[in-house]
Amino acid sequence: MTTQRVALVTGVGRQEGIGFEVCRQLAAQHITVLLTARQLDRATDLATQLATQGVDVRPMELDVTRSDQIQRLVNDVEQTFQKLDILINNAAVAGTFGEQAADADLATARQVFEMNLFGTWQLCQAMLPLLRRSPAGRLVNVSSGGGSYGDPAFGLTTPNSMGTSYAVSKAALNALTVRLAVEERATGVLINAVCPGFTATFPGAEAMGARPVADGAASVVWAALLPDTGPNRWLLP
Ligand SMILES: NC(=O)c1ccc[n+]([C@@H]2O[C@H](COP(=O)([O-])OP(=O)(O)OC[C@H]3O[C@@H](n4cnc5c(N)ncnc54)[C@H](OP(=O)(O)O)[C@@H]3O)[C@@H](O)[C@H]2O)c1
Repeated sequence: MTTQRVALVTGVGRQEGIGFEVCRQLAAQHITVLLTARQLDRATDLATQLATQGVDVRPMELDVTRSDQIQRLVNDVEQTFQKLDILINNAAVAGTFGEQAADADLATARQVFEMNLFGTWQLCQAMLPLLRRSPAGRLVNVSSGGGSYGDPAFGLTTPNSMGTSYAVSKAALNALTVRLAVEERATGVLINAVCPGFTATFPGAEAMGARPVADGAASVVWAALLPDTGPNRWLLP
């Protein structure tokens, strides 16, 4: 089994996104990074940008809702590295701002859940056997204050905050994270959900108070590099 640390990051389809910066920061720690996106050409472009800086970043195709692609990826990682050290579930769909619970289109809500909850859950299930082989397995679900009861700006109890499907899917992701963390306690794999905070991933966001992408990504990377004594479950923003 390789001694090289290996991380897999989902949903790295945009240079402006948190996932790309997470890849950059992990790679700077001499970790081999599997940069995945729905479109392989996007993953290849972005991985090449980082690899030219002398780090080990490899593009891979992954639509998190596609079980065939997940299985292919598991096979590739197992054959090449025999284990996985870090899984970052960054991919998500945002749904519709202003969507209300009382009249939300449930077909759309199911699509949001298919990505944000079930896709992520499926990938967790598929990768856990490889994470358990790591001496320091870490699984990070990138969540949102939108799915929190306590977040005063974006949380579930704040009127007209995030769209309902997105918020409820992230609340479900938080619950899933707790269950996985409790189940995996004996294996040593640390599992946490992290909110990166309101982060400037779109034009004009900084003027609205969003923090730089490097800072949002650093929260995620922190949970990926926890020591064995680190928290296991759920990190409020
Ligand atoms: N930005 C913020 O203020 C903020 C705040 C709290 C939480 N977050 C969380 O942070 C994470 C990253 O958000 P971001 O702001 O960087 O947004 P983003 O750039 O839109 O990142 C989300 C990525 O997920 C990908 N994706 C969507 N469906 C997918 C699927 N089925 N399979 C694989 N990838 C898929 C998208 O791919 P395509 O490019 O192909 O569409 C996109 O690149 C998300 O989990 C989000 O909920 C963000």
